[in-house]
Amino acid sequence: MLETFYDINGQAPGTPADPAVPASADLQISAADAGQAGSKDSSAPGGKTLLIAHLSDLHSHPQNAILQSLQVQRPDLIAVTGDLIYGARPANNIPVMKNNRAVLSFLEECRKVAPVFLSLGNHEWMLGPADKELIAGTGTVLLDNDWARLQNLVFGGLSSGITSHYDEYRESLYKSGAADRSVLYPLNDPKELRSGLPPRTGWLEEFMNQPGYRILLCHHPEYRDRYLRKLSAQSDDRGVPSAGRNDQAENLDIDLILSGHAHGGQIRLFNRGLFAPGQGLLPRYTSGIHGNMIISRGLTNTVPYSPRLFNPPEIVYVRIRFQ
Ligand SMILES: [Fe+2]
Repeated sequence: MLETFYDINGQAPGTPADPAVPASADLQISAADAGQAGSKDSSAPGGKTLLIAHLSDLHSHPQNAILQSLQVQRPDLIAVTGDLIYGARPANNIPVMKNNRAVLSFLEECRKVAPVFLSLGNHEWMLGPADKELIAGTGTVLLDNDWARLQNLVFGGLSSGITSHYDEYRESLYKSGAADRSVLYPLNDPKELRSGLPPRTGWLEEFMNQPGYRILLCHHPEYRDRYLRKLSAQSDDRGVPSAGRNDQAENLDIDLILSGHAHGGQIRLFNRGLFAPGQGLLPRYTSGIHGNMIISRGLTNTVPYSPRLFNPPEIVYVRIRFQ
């Protein structure tokens, strides 16, 4: 497993965190968490440095090597950018996360090292309320199209399009009476929800307007150029920006985006990935630092027809030096 370190500079916000600015509903961070994040006097903006461990694409395969790395590096925060599990609908009506107890234990172990923030990837499409409760029970802050504040840091989590659409679809079935709430995963095959669905970006404007250093956990690196431009200028009347008008996202009010999903392009030749879902052949965003975005190559593999070649799993550490 690769350990990759990125050193970046951060602009400290001009004012300290305003206690009058609430974290969004249901995502209050406890005083104990805030204390832990600030326990190394270097961790907060306006101080010196902050070390973030960035984990992505675990796909139900927690590994001791990851925990050992975290225990050695002792990051201030852990950001998990989706595809925590392998996304298959269970044959029974048991919460998916109950079939992923090793993953829940892994999150608990991560939480012993530092506060953990998690956003949802495409493999989390089926997660429902019972699953989200199990995740929250580990002490992980789940950011499902939502944001939370920790001191001067503002974390957002942009869920995969399919994940948000399935959530809404399920809720519509419950509300119309087409499915009973005791049926946890009422759609047999989410094929019709699968490709090219845009993420829900309506909440991002509020996130981008928060004072502080804004970090977005966004599973899909391709979302940045497609959807994350200055929302106020480009959004349609539903608050959803249209794709494709601008290939470069220079105007973002986001300090740092952490992404995964591309698995480094699966096969790497001449330091370039071969393909990635959502980007096709010779994709642009598979690894490394691209402006305000850092992409993890991910921690495991889910593509059965193509092993990872010249492309070991990767744990990313981002050290932010605040000025
Ligand atoms: Fe993914």
